[in-house]
Amino acid sequence: MEMAEIARRIAELKREKDAVVLAHYYVPAETQALADYVGDSFYLARLAKTLESRTIVLCGVSFMAESVKLLNPGRTVLMPEPAADCPMAHMVQKADVDRVRERYDDLAVVAYVNTTAEIKRWADVCVTSSNAIKVVSELPQHNILFIPDMNLGRYVAEQVPQKNVILNRGYCPTHNRIAPAEVEALEAEHPEAEVLAHPECPQDVLWEADYIGSTKQIIEHIAASDKKEFIVLTVVGVAAEIERLTQGQGKTIYFPATRPVCPNMAMVTAQKLLECLERGTGQMELPEDPDRANAPLERMLELAAR
Ligand code: 13P
Ligand code: SF4
Repeated sequence: MEMAEIARRIAELKREKDAVVLAHYYVPAETQALADYVGDSFYLARLAKTLESRTIVLCGVSFMAESVKLLNPGRTVLMPEPAADCPMAHMVQKADVDRVRERYDDLAVVAYVNTTAEIKRWADVCVTSSNAIKVVSELPQHNILFIPDMNLGRYVAEQVPQKNVILNRGYCPTHNRIAPAEVEALEAEHPEAEVLAHPECPQDVLWEADYIGSTKQIIEHIAASDKKEFIVLTVVGVAAEIERLTQGQGKTIYFPATRPVCPNMAMVTAQKLLECLERGTGQMELPEDPDRANAPLERMLELAAR
């Protein structure tokens, strides 16, 4: 089916089903173009609570749709590609959390929002890459077990030195693969370029960065910058919004030669969004003990808003 026809059918189905479409910046540009709202993990989680529609379609990976369902248990939440899962969202074991809890009385377990609902149940608070520093700084506890992402956890530990941050061994396969050598090659080719990195990148890649932030923060930083060239160290999906926001500004962005793509996000095509709206498939069920899994998400919203 032609893209114009897909767009027409989706607009019709959204009206018929009282549905709103949310998309993450890492899904294909064709899917982002069909969404009512596009954003980073924090923006999407917070936004979903303010929407009135009966149905929310989340174009992203499963932890995102699960978070929207936990925060909005009364709504129908659909995922166009239910197999789209973030591998990092599973990279921590309960036994590891229990061991650290036994060792420290004054401990907060901080779960990156990139976690399953089961893992959220072990946590005291969630964070996203856009609010992790703020939320961890606001916590009364001195000891912080940061799960599952070691790269984001290490970055937070550096930014909040007053806390004792204990790390876990999880990582994002896509960001962790970015190598300092390819960043240095890009810097040599484009010496005037500003380097922007997502905090899921390894530490030696973050050392190269002039600016570190979430997808939304990177995009907004580029749109507001006086510079003309940018080396962007995150998934290439952010290019669509950067191009949209910087039209006519003569800005150029460069990605690592290995072209970071999240294979799970890439599965969320426009055709799957259409099928999901047509058939009502990919419905998120509330996970076991939803109140316990939702508590750290609510705590995040509260601390991030302070
Ligand atoms: P953001 O919160 O920056 O959008 O990141 C989500 C994610 O999965 C990064 O890999
Ligand atoms: Fe997960 Fe990495 Fe994909 Fe983000 S980019 S959803 S952290 S695998």
